Amino acid sequence: MSTIAAVSGAETFRASPDVYDGHVGRYGPALAASLIEYAGVRPGMRALDVGCGPGALASALADLLGPAHVSAVDPSQPFAEACRARLPGVEVVVAPAEALPFPDGTFDAVLSQLVVNFMSDAEAGVRELARVARPGGIVASCVWDYAGEMTLLRAFWDAAREVDPERGAAADEGVVMRWCGEGDLARLWTAAGLADVRAASLVVSARYAGFEDLWWPFPTGLAPSGAFCASLDDERRAELHDAYRRRLGVGDGPFELTARAWAVAGVV
Ligand SMILES: C[S@@+](CC[C@H](N)C(=O)[O-])C[C@H]1O[C@@H](n2cnc3c(N)ncnc32)[C@H](O)[C@@H]1O
Repeated sequence: MSTIAAVSGAETFRASPDVYDGHVGRYGPALAASLIEYAGVRPGMRALDVGCGPGALASALADLLGPAHVSAVDPSQPFAEACRARLPGVEVVVAPAEALPFPDGTFDAVLSQLVVNFMSDAEAGVRELARVARPGGIVASCVWDYAGEMTLLRAFWDAAREVDPERGAAADEGVVMRWCGEGDLARLWTAAGLADVRAASLVVSARYAGFEDLWWPFPTGLAPSGAFCASLDDERRAELHDAYRRRLGVGDGPFELTARAWAVAGVV
């Protein structure tokens, strides 16, 4: 495994929640609303958000179900703390998907947003999601279409491959992320024994004040894209900045980007 591939996982999320909000977190609330709607979560249910990060999905679930009916887990201590501070009344526990600290059949709905590809053992993680959902309960997730229409990250990695072809290709999330091709999540859900498995794409968007508003989180090292950006020397990072802006075709004025996620839902 290369140095960059080695940071393509959970350890790149041990950063400030504010940086996350400025990075992919910008798309979180809209994606959460779409995933909840797609999964069919309804008032009266008890739900779990697995890999909650700073809490976009847990927040939307708490609005719909009430905080007392929502639990959330994340293996990142800073993210779990941020989620807890933002969502009083929601139970937030530091734990990975692969070892959920709940009895069998605890929840009516178990959701995760942008997490399956970061699990160290996704097969085991999804079996755990199914285990803590009650019989007849819903298990649903989504992941970015890194190889295609997640514009923010696709353009980033295309620019990265332009300025550093070898290392950019080795770290490109469109290549290295598992479970992010069309149909991959449905295969994973079926293999975990879930029934009535269905798949869809969810498209959301985010607004930016200008290119610098988009760029600033990357040099902090957050997420695999930020880790790659932070690993470059100043000259290469400046080249990446310029190549990225050129590929997006944006400047100092406001713009909007769309992002596609692959979604899946199944029944226990
Ligand atoms: C891209 S963020 C998504 C956060 C949040 N769900 C959202 O939509 O904004 C990925 C999250 O997965 C978490 N994560 C990484 N490995 C995990 C695992 N094995 N089990 C559960 N969560 C994990 C990270 O700590 C991080 O919070």
